[in-house]
Amino acid sequence: MTAEEKNKAALFLDLADDYLLDGYRRPRTRAVFEDSAAFPAPEKAAEPLAGNSRETPRGTGGQTQTQPAVAREERDGEASPGAGGDSLEKVAEEVRRCDACRLCETRTQGVPGEGAASPLVLVVGEAPGADEDASGRPFVGKAGQLLDRMLDSIGLSRRKNCFIANVVKCRPPQNRDPMPDELVFCSRFLKRQIEMLKPKVILCAGRISAQTMLRTTTGIGKLRGRFEPYPTEDSFDESGGSTPLLPTYHPSALLRDGSYKRPAWEDLKTLRAKLAELDDNYARETAGQ
Ligand code: URA
Repeated sequence: MTAEEKNKAALFLDLADDYLLDGYRRPRTRAVFEDSAAFPAPEKAAEPLAGNSRETPRGTGGQTQTQPAVAREERDGEASPGAGGDSLEKVAEEVRRCDACRLCETRTQGVPGEGAASPLVLVVGEAPGADEDASGRPFVGKAGQLLDRMLDSIGLSRRKNCFIANVVKCRPPQNRDPMPDELVFCSRFLKRQIEMLKPKVILCAGRISAQTMLRTTTGIGKLRGRFEPYPTEDSFDESGGSTPLLPTYHPSALLRDGSYKRPAWEDLKTLRAKLAELDDNYARETAGQ
């Protein structure tokens, strides 16, 4: 058995154990089987937006033909290294090479996520769509453009203080809902990203994201607008091992049905108030908004 196979088996057994015995994901120390051939070190070159290292070398702030210029303004500099020398670039590389589930057969490329390396907010969507699958970047289609405008309205952006990712990193064919095993296999990437990014708040965009993160079948209409604690393995936050997680409607739901806009705006105001409590700089920057 290779190290990658052992890691997959251990992860699957952990998750099955949690679901069957407790019905939710328990914080635990994960066994890590090393096999340098299976997980070669990533290239040193890094990215304009943290976590998507194929794009532009870190610190250049420059442009390539396909990527925009980037001003990386981070609260605390680099993302904290994860256990065993983990890094956002390593996660991104593994996402691109991942063949843990059937989605690798139909994707153009994996979409690891991108944004500030030490974000105020981690936005978690469902899965890449056609535009994201083609570009390798999260939330770049119509829903993504709306998401950017929504974030901007409360002083947030992926260039400055947000990281944008999805629970599933590869596009499901015909944009179908991700299947349970796809969610299980892919959740290990998001979990590692969360451990390194240490966001102050997690914003779940849509039902699939919120239900997966909170391990519930409650509908998004009931979940939205209220903070829930998301248990974090390392107690990196000040609230005793959990990060506040706010579910809201997915931007594509707002595009389909305008009646979701008002509650989504209420949720954004709830997020803004929480961030102002948690971060003095943000509170100053958004005072009077
Ligand atoms: N919808 C999502 O949930 N994620 C994306 O990246 C794009 C659209």
